[in-house]
Amino acid sequence: MELRSIELELPDPEEAARFLTGIWGLGEAGGDIDSCYLRGSGDQPYLVGLHRSDHPLVRSVTFLATVGEIEAVRLRAAQHGVALVEATSTDPGAGVGIALALPDGAVIRLLAGAKRVEPVAGVPDRAVRLTHVVLNAVDAEATARFAEDILGFRVSDRTKGMVFVRCNASHHSIAFARAGFASLNHIAFEMADMDAVMRGIGRLRDVGMVPAWGPGRHGPGANIFAYFIAPFGAVVEFSTAVEIVDEDYQTGAPEDWTWPPNRIDQWGISGKDMAALGAAERVFRFRRS
Ligand SMILES: [Fe+2]
Repeated sequence: MELRSIELELPDPEEAARFLTGIWGLGEAGGDIDSCYLRGSGDQPYLVGLHRSDHPLVRSVTFLATVGEIEAVRLRAAQHGVALVEATSTDPGAGVGIALALPDGAVIRLLAGAKRVEPVAGVPDRAVRLTHVVLNAVDAEATARFAEDILGFRVSDRTKGMVFVRCNASHHSIAFARAGFASLNHIAFEMADMDAVMRGIGRLRDVGMVPAWGPGRHGPGANIFAYFIAPFGAVVEFSTAVEIVDEDYQTGAPEDWTWPPNRIDQWGISGKDMAALGAAERVFRFRRS
């Protein structure tokens, strides 16, 4: 499967779209009076859907799948007594499939037959695609087990704080933070290379925004990162160079991922604003949570 998009509900989609296009660097991809869709430079019709509503919510996280993969999920869901609904996408790109909720209520949509679009050339500073979405979980292990047992995903690594889960050769496309509560932790956009990440940091610096964490390079997945708190409340990440793993990747345990004193990433050049991130990571909830 492949992570395609995240659909958010929020009171002011126009404000969020202005930031995500004018500063963050995405492109417009249509919409209507209550919805905006934003795309990257890759072949997905959109990466972020913004829908007007009273409260910030994650409406869904959407993965592309084959008909066969969806049928396999349908079978495993039935075996485990997990409810799912049929899903016909009215978003750009269309597609037909199913939607089901993770244990904390986050809706995962699996679509087959969704359209791809022509990549955009000549926009090296635009995110290419989403690389991962991290969700805060009441019980990250139970949520990861659900992702393995029902969705057919695989755990790549466990750390003290997170369970990293893959749905293809990319080290993780989704991760579950051991938060004790349920919400959106952050959305990570894949940039073409480290220069694109650094120019992104510069672009935000131009408007007075500094990273809440980064730049740095993570342990699990080894991706380069820079996290910001967007004006619309969510934590967003520029990322690049996530590790590509084999089927026989050895799943790491928390004791495999420890840091020396005063280090929480491979470079150690920047601090982490724990208070600001902690607050922002609670803004977007799930409908059931
Ligand atoms: Fe991340």
